[in-house]
Amino acid sequence: MTDLSVFIAGLPKAELHLHIEGSLEPEQMFAFARRNRLALPFASVEDVRAAYAFSNLQDFLDIYYQGAGVLMTEQDFHDLALAYFRRVAADGCRHVELFFDPQTHTDRGLPFRVAVEGLLSGMAEAQRSFGITSKLILCFLRHLDEDAAFATLKAAEPWLDAITGVGLDSSELGHPPSKFARVFKAAGERGLRRVAHAGEEGPPAYVWEALDILKVDRIDHGNRALEDAALVKRLAAEGMTLTVCPLSNLKLRVVDDLAAHPLKRMLDLGLKATVNSDDPAYFGGYLGENWRAAAPPLGLTRAELVTLAKNSFTGAFLTPAEAAAHLAAIDAYVIRRRGSSPVPGEGTATRAARPAPR
Ligand code: HPA
Ligand code: ZN
Repeated sequence: MTDLSVFIAGLPKAELHLHIEGSLEPEQMFAFARRNRLALPFASVEDVRAAYAFSNLQDFLDIYYQGAGVLMTEQDFHDLALAYFRRVAADGCRHVELFFDPQTHTDRGLPFRVAVEGLLSGMAEAQRSFGITSKLILCFLRHLDEDAAFATLKAAEPWLDAITGVGLDSSELGHPPSKFARVFKAAGERGLRRVAHAGEEGPPAYVWEALDILKVDRIDHGNRALEDAALVKRLAAEGMTLTVCPLSNLKLRVVDDLAAHPLKRMLDLGLKATVNSDDPAYFGGYLGENWRAAAPPLGLTRAELVTLAKNSFTGAFLTPAEAAAHLAAIDAYVIRRRGSSPVPGEGTATRAARPAPR
């Protein structure tokens, strides 16, 4: 492992943009299909991976919804979540706020309870086994109508104490946040936090709508906000967290290469960016891989990596005391690392290690 990889792996971090259905690995797809006696349109794991050549968000979503069709039981959702947590425990992940798409499952006949109970039990086990805390965010599918989102919110009612917030995902273009104004208002009145995907493929106007109409607490992605200087100013002034997903952006052709990714520019502009994986099984990397892939081409400094890690906790739906404990752990880690690596904040993340200062 390079010094950079070691530094990143040990840095305490949170993941705030993770679709749990997007952590379904091809091997798991076959295992779940087998135990649920379902046929797959793929002959092998290699065939599945070969299908993961996307040219935009919709290409990906078509295969992602198809993949989720193998999830049938609470045990499947439990196992899916636990496998994800086991993977990110090795990445220094301490807290996750995970999305799930209930409509993807209820629309194929599963009771609402199956996904939510399976995930909650996987989350509880992850806390016991790996010490990772987590919160659950219910996403509405924006290609469906607002009545369907209302029906989902109603189905979720018995679990609202265990669900932290609502989100908005799926096909962005043509489905602006304003389409979901009433259901987000209703979610807010029920004490739920609100987030929305905006500015991944959609224009800056969708980010404005997410802020002004949906009253979101975070923006998921937000890349295209950089096209609008007044919007950047607003996001910076509000300290709005952006859950940025480098490898997703690369795979879905939101950026041509990671050297051109806006993450560094966001930090330079004073935006509160975080690093996340989105759909790690489909986009070629879990949380740590996103950090390791983005840092060198962008020349992120250690101080910037520390800022990104701190943003992931201050942008999470944790209490101030919980967030403060994670920030203290980051500071302690940076001090511990001082004797064995370049001084935090000096030089770029890609620079080779040099002797520690005396
Ligand atoms: N964008 C929109 N919807 C999604 C995504 C995404 O990256 N992943 C899963 N659903
Ligand atoms: Zn997403």
